[in-house]
Amino acid sequence: MDTQTTDLAALESDFSARIAAAADEAAVEALRVEALGKQGAVSGLMKTLGSMSPDQRQVMGPKLNGLKDRLGEALTVRKAQLAEAALDARLMAETMDVSLPPRPGRAGSIHPISMVMEELSAIFGQMGFALEEGPDIETDFNNFTALNFPPEHPARDMHDTFFFHPNAKGDRKVLRTHTSPVQVRTMLKQKPPIRMICMGRTYRCDSDATHTPMFHQIEGLVIDETTTMADLKGVLMAFIRAYFEVDDVEVRFRPHHFPFTEPSAEMDVRCDRSVPGQLKIGAGNDWLEILGCGMVHPNVIRACGLDPDKHQGYAFGMGVDRLAMLKYGIPDLRDMFAADTRWLKHYGFSPFLSPGLAAGVG
Ligand code: PHE
Repeated sequence: MDTQTTDLAALESDFSARIAAAADEAAVEALRVEALGKQGAVSGLMKTLGSMSPDQRQVMGPKLNGLKDRLGEALTVRKAQLAEAALDARLMAETMDVSLPPRPGRAGSIHPISMVMEELSAIFGQMGFALEEGPDIETDFNNFTALNFPPEHPARDMHDTFFFHPNAKGDRKVLRTHTSPVQVRTMLKQKPPIRMICMGRTYRCDSDATHTPMFHQIEGLVIDETTTMADLKGVLMAFIRAYFEVDDVEVRFRPHHFPFTEPSAEMDVRCDRSVPGQLKIGAGNDWLEILGCGMVHPNVIRACGLDPDKHQGYAFGMGVDRLAMLKYGIPDLRDMFAADTRWLKHYGFSPFLSPGLAAGVG
């Protein structure tokens, strides 16, 4: 070994040892400057390449480059180790005891909408429905076109849609007006059999005691080769029984129109409104409209890349907020989103309640 090589080896082992021993990120940075900075040791050696003979350069060039790369790598590794150790130390120092009781008057509670969503996922989860998701900002295609709303059809405006400004290509996004675009997303990404629910925020330009510009829906979709309207009815009745905790419910299907289902129906539940201010589900002489549903339209199945001669199924959609109002006796929808802690104290639920079918969902 010539002396230069020995020197390089010594330089490398010296730096490697000091990098490995560096105690914090600042020390690593100082070593980086000392070795690889403009005035650094390795950079100084690199500068001598210019004055070497071509033969010498051919030998020393790769050696110096290798040295530079290895030291650079060692610096990066050490820096990452130290950053991780610093994070661990910080996490240890900032742990909090989540089992401590809250300070008086500061206890949080679960919003009825969150509670109902938990209940809905427990009920439908037990019936074999998987949970899907979609974004609040949707394409016009997913919210309307794929769902068999013809272009420029007034139904797009009937949904009181919030449209975004069109982009350069003329495409305009929307705040989704319903959760039905998640039907499209699911069919596009997943092969049947499909059995899913989706819950989330939806938006329409509308506001009174029973409408807010933002509200929540739950969507259900089943696609396979044999599912019928009878299956839909069975699932919905099982849902109503579990959700309202009643043994016997009578429902009726009224013919309706949705572009994305054929036939379409609205489902009403028998209820009693004879005592003012009280609503009883399952008995009485009144009907309460609760959801929209139907068999998925062949055009929708086709738009999602499936063959309507082979695949069929049903979909349903309902308002989560309305379900919450009905079950927990909340009279005004707007209060739900007023962020008033007194309201939440009255209607909210303990964070320690976890809905499950075994204990009853409510
Ligand atoms: N998307 C419909 C609405 O918002 C509800 C619906 C969903 C109807 C699925 C049929 C099938 O009114």
